[in-house]
Amino acid sequence: MARKKIALIGAGNIGGTMAHLCAVKALGDVVLYDVIDGLPQGKALDLLQSAPIENFDAEIVGTTKYEDIAGADVCIVTAGIARKPGMSRDDLVGTNAKILSQVAVGIKKHAPNSFVIVITNPLDAMVTLTKRVTGFPKNRVVGQSGILDSSRYRTFVAQELKVSVASVSAVVLGGHGDDMVPVRSSCQVSGVPVERFISGQRLDEIEARVRNAGGEIVALLKTGSAFYSPASAAIRMAQSYLQDRKEILPCAAYLEGEYGVNGYYFCVPVMIGSGGVEKVIEIELAPRERKLFEQSLARVKELVQTMDKLLAAS
Ligand code: LAC
Repeated sequence: MARKKIALIGAGNIGGTMAHLCAVKALGDVVLYDVIDGLPQGKALDLLQSAPIENFDAEIVGTTKYEDIAGADVCIVTAGIARKPGMSRDDLVGTNAKILSQVAVGIKKHAPNSFVIVITNPLDAMVTLTKRVTGFPKNRVVGQSGILDSSRYRTFVAQELKVSVASVSAVVLGGHGDDMVPVRSSCQVSGVPVERFISGQRLDEIEARVRNAGGEIVALLKTGSAFYSPASAAIRMAQSYLQDRKEILPCAAYLEGEYGVNGYYFCVPVMIGSGGVEKVIEIELAPRERKLFEQSLARVKELVQTMDKLLAAS
């Protein structure tokens, strides 16, 4: 069986970490692309030299040429700038929209059959633009957001209760912005509602921390944003696609009527298999959560409008 090919567009911290994960999980050959000559080649060479130790045989290539992503099964996009302390994800929209417009052209031309996962922020706008420019069907363009946000929720609940993260399930839906929606009514500890274990007031604090979790890391790092956890999240999505695992994962999917949302990317649970986004799963939201969901949607609509104005003016 021929090895799968995974193209990582952007060889920064997330790109490099994803290349490492692809190699150690034996997901396939990796092409690491970046506009900064030397960066993808250097990281690729370093990773290759870990192959005998980690015992993988994947080809890992660093490049500044889009031709090298030819025939990729999966493209994962992190190209663009990351926020600095004090910035929201939305502040990146102008700069990253220009970058993503070019990236999407490269993907469309050289990897026309690929499954595309977008990570670049502001996520909900960047994944919208990628779908528009590539013209790919909605099942093949998806955004990474909710796996990371849900993982943060699970982490903080597990820490609070001093239990294994494996015993905590949670979903965070909506936009990947400051008003994302941690779905408390779906958060469970070994199948039991979280509210039986943690007070409402403490859950408010935990959920506020989830919403600001990316920003908390940016404030600490000062020169960049989170990378280990976003990389893990995107690779989980890629793996479900490449191995037809049909995992149900919260991701930014293009909605056409589901959850009452029409024509926007928004994070909801989806099933990812060899057909890409094969199904959108509709879960029930408590009235309070539904309200937050609507607020988050309004914010995403505004963000897409801002992007469109900036693109029209440039
Ligand atoms: C975060 C960025 C990667 O949430 O969006 O950390």
